Amino acid sequence: MSGPTSIAQILPENYRFLQQHVYSQAGIVLEEDKDYLFETRLAPIVRQLGLGTINELCEFIQTNRRIDVGHQVVEAMTTNETYFFRDPAQYDAIRNVLLPRLMEERRDTRRLRFWSAAASTGQEAYSLAMLLIESGLSGWDIQILGTDFSSKVLDRARSGNYQQIEVNRGLPAALLVRYFHRVDSQWQLSDAVRKMVDFESIDLRASLRALGPFDLVFCRNVMIYFDTETKKKIMKELHGTLFRGGWLLLGGVETAFGFEESFDRQSMGSATAYIAR
Ligand SMILES: C[S@@+](CC[C@H](N)C(=O)[O-])C[C@H]1O[C@@H](n2cnc3c(N)ncnc32)[C@H](O)[C@@H]1O
Repeated sequence: MSGPTSIAQILPENYRFLQQHVYSQAGIVLEEDKDYLFETRLAPIVRQLGLGTINELCEFIQTNRRIDVGHQVVEAMTTNETYFFRDPAQYDAIRNVLLPRLMEERRDTRRLRFWSAAASTGQEAYSLAMLLIESGLSGWDIQILGTDFSSKVLDRARSGNYQQIEVNRGLPAALLVRYFHRVDSQWQLSDAVRKMVDFESIDLRASLRALGPFDLVFCRNVMIYFDTETKKKIMKELHGTLFRGGWLLLGGVETAFGFEESFDRQSMGSATAYIAR
């Protein structure tokens, strides 16, 4: 049980400060009663700064105006969970429906553009890159953009270096053998796949239209952290980044409900694609 000097004994005003800080910096809504989350995620920062409690950390950020520490707090409070070929039905739909159409429509320019809009440590963008090579598109002019709010996860994504536990999640053994090589206890993704993806730090609440137009945008498992207003704004911007007929793929529990005027909803097996009107 937490004692009075526990790292997690957060004063109500500091709890509110943390909620507001994370909301203003990343748009992420942290509900009440998340003390345990603050404790596990912020304890390493408290220790690293030689402080004793999360309350001291809040005071430290406010009195020293340490933007870097403030940013570290937001990154720590962000969920970065991801894995290769997450939601395989969506990759099946890309392989079986989207790519055959694009290969026909773009046979002259042979140019395709994709965006992984909350890329985290890169597995989503790299899964797509491997899928494109496997689908015979390696001779095409392909650009995949991977973006995230957090520069920490993007550094990892750029490295293309994954731990055993990460390649065990979702990556077919044949693709591990074909596109990775072992470096000590890690797996290094081949340069051929890495160079297909550019990673950039972008906040989804920014103006996004200039990034497009894309044939496909992944924006998965991030909208769940935003409030309705933020979601609406982002959905509008995402629509503006897509070619007409381009696909938006959301996470399993996310929907484009309320955007029927902008997107046609199409089911493909157990996957759902939102197709830009
Ligand atoms: C749970 S991960 C999802 C990763 C991947 N899309 C997937 O579905 O496997 C959510 C990511 O969204 C990023 N994120 C959170 N708020 C963001 C914002 N305002 N702008 C851009 N990225 C944000 C986080 O840094 C995190 O890496």
